[in-house]
Amino acid sequence: MPEEVGTQPQYDLFADEFADHARDNFYNAHYDRPACLDLLGDVDGKTVLDAACGPGHYAAELTRRGAQVIGFDQSPRMVELSTQRVPQAQFRTHDLAHPLDWLPDGSVDLVLLALALEYLDDRTAALAELTRVLRPGGALVLSRMHPTGDWLRHGGNYFQPRVIEETWNAGWHVRWWLSPLEQTCEELRGAGFLIERLTEPRPTPPAREIDAAKYEALHTSPTGLLAIRAIPDPRMADKT
Ligand SMILES: C[S@@+](CC[C@H](N)C(=O)[O-])C[C@H]1O[C@@H](n2cnc3c(N)ncnc32)[C@H](O)[C@@H]1O
Repeated sequence: MPEEVGTQPQYDLFADEFADHARDNFYNAHYDRPACLDLLGDVDGKTVLDAACGPGHYAAELTRRGAQVIGFDQSPRMVELSTQRVPQAQFRTHDLAHPLDWLPDGSVDLVLLALALEYLDDRTAALAELTRVLRPGGALVLSRMHPTGDWLRHGGNYFQPRVIEETWNAGWHVRWWLSPLEQTCEELRGAGFLIERLTEPRPTPPAREIDAAKYEALHTSPTGLLAIRAIPDPRMADKT
């Protein structure tokens, strides 16, 4: 049987706990969100697709900054939580394993894919759909766990992608893809993206108040996150 994460909406089981956890915590609120929001830039007046939106923390902040947010998630409970949090935005249950056939070509200005790439079995196909719905001049911002950190924790062959099954501190059981940086770059290229920026973010100062030791560790070792801003490759436009 091929190795895969599968289509079970694994976050559905702990969606409410994740929502509480991610609201003002170290990792999401003071590390991942500042990094991706920085790469997204000015969103005022823009249509932003929040792919794998989770419980809507990003959607709330993007709406506050003037964006029109369309969001989706594989987990129905996450979609309910997002809808409650941000009634002005439009959310639906959708698995990124399937085409976004409810969104026309070139219909959004920006796409955000925060901390979800790891759960996709066919990442190139999913990213290609995100390229398709972006208008020319638009951009994708994604974050993923830092491949160096993943490899240091799990060992083995850094270059060999594999599905990891583990239980995190909160008791959440997850399956996800461990994969090298090169593979993410190749998947983006294969989907028609050109990488504009690749950052290795550091937690923001409020994170130090929550956990000083983790703050220091993530300011000195590549074991947390990385974030990428990519644009639809303008050279592809000439080929259509
Ligand atoms: C770590 S959470 C991140 C949520 C949100 N992006 C954030 O940063 O707050 C990962 C999310 O990805 C969603 N997800 C995982 N696989 C997915 C898929 N194939 N299609 C759509 N959403 C998916 C999960 O349901 C979960 O809400």
